[in-house]
Amino acid sequence: MRQNLVAGNWKMNLTYPEGVALVSEITRLAAEAAAGANAPEIVICPPFPLLHGVGEQLPKASKFHLGAQNCHQKESGAFTGEVSAKVLASVGCEYVILGHSERRQYFGETDELLSQKLKAALAAGLKPIFCVGESLDTREADETFDFIGQQLASGLFHLSNEEFAQVVIAYEPIWAIGTGRTATSAQAQEVHAFIREQIARAYDAQAALDTTILYGGSANAQNARELFSQPDVDGGLIGGASLKAVDFTAIIQSF
Ligand code: 13P
Repeated sequence: MRQNLVAGNWKMNLTYPEGVALVSEITRLAAEAAAGANAPEIVICPPFPLLHGVGEQLPKASKFHLGAQNCHQKESGAFTGEVSAKVLASVGCEYVILGHSERRQYFGETDELLSQKLKAALAAGLKPIFCVGESLDTREADETFDFIGQQLASGLFHLSNEEFAQVVIAYEPIWAIGTGRTATSAQAQEVHAFIREQIARAYDAQAALDTTILYGGSANAQNARELFSQPDVDGGLIGGASLKAVDFTAIIQSF
C-alpha cells in the first residue's frame, strides 16, 4: 500500500547507549507529529546489535517501526558473521534495507544476490526497502534511466505481484549520498515517475500507483518539504540527518 514514509538509515554509526538515547529523543520530539492524521510511517534502521534496544524504545501500535540495513539470503546455517531475515523478524524488525549502493559498492552485492535477499526477506515477513540509483558518471553520460531500468528489471521485477506489493523502493542517486549535493526536486520527481512507469509495465497501473517510492541522498530538514511535495515522491531514506533528533523530527513533519 502506498504511504508516506520516512526511514532513518543510521549506517555504521552510534554505540548501543548512543542509539538508545537518540531513539528515545526522536520518539519524544516526534510524538505529536507521529500521532497526527498526516503522519508518515517512520522506520528506524540502526546497526544489528542496536536493533533490540532501539526497538524497545518505539511505542507499540504506533507509526514507528524497526528496520535493519541488510540481511543474508539464507534462512540459517554455517554463514559466520551473517544475520538472517528470520532473526531480524524475531527481534521486532518489520523492514530491511536491501541493495543500498554502499552494499553494492563495498560488499560486491549484485542484482542476482539481491534478488535472493529479497526472497529471503519476504519469506520472513519483512518489507524490503529496495535501493536503486546511478553514479555521477552514469548521470553525466545521460544513461540514468537505462541504468535504473536495468536495476529494477534484474533485481526486483522477478517478484510475484503479491511479493512486489510488500516492497518499498528508494531512489538514491550515488552522487547525492553523504555529499551535501541533493538532487533537485525536479530531478527526483523525474526518476520517481520513471520508476512508476517501469512498475506499470512490469506489473500493472494499479501496482505502480500503490508503490511507495522514497528519495534518499542529502535529504535534510531544509529540503525535505520541497522533495516530498513532488507527486511521485512519498518520503525519504535519510542518512546523516537521521542521526540528529531535531533534524529527523523536522523531516517527519515535512508532509
Ligand atoms: P545521506 O542522507 O547521509 O546523504 O545518506 C543517504 C543514504 O544513503 C540513506 O540510505
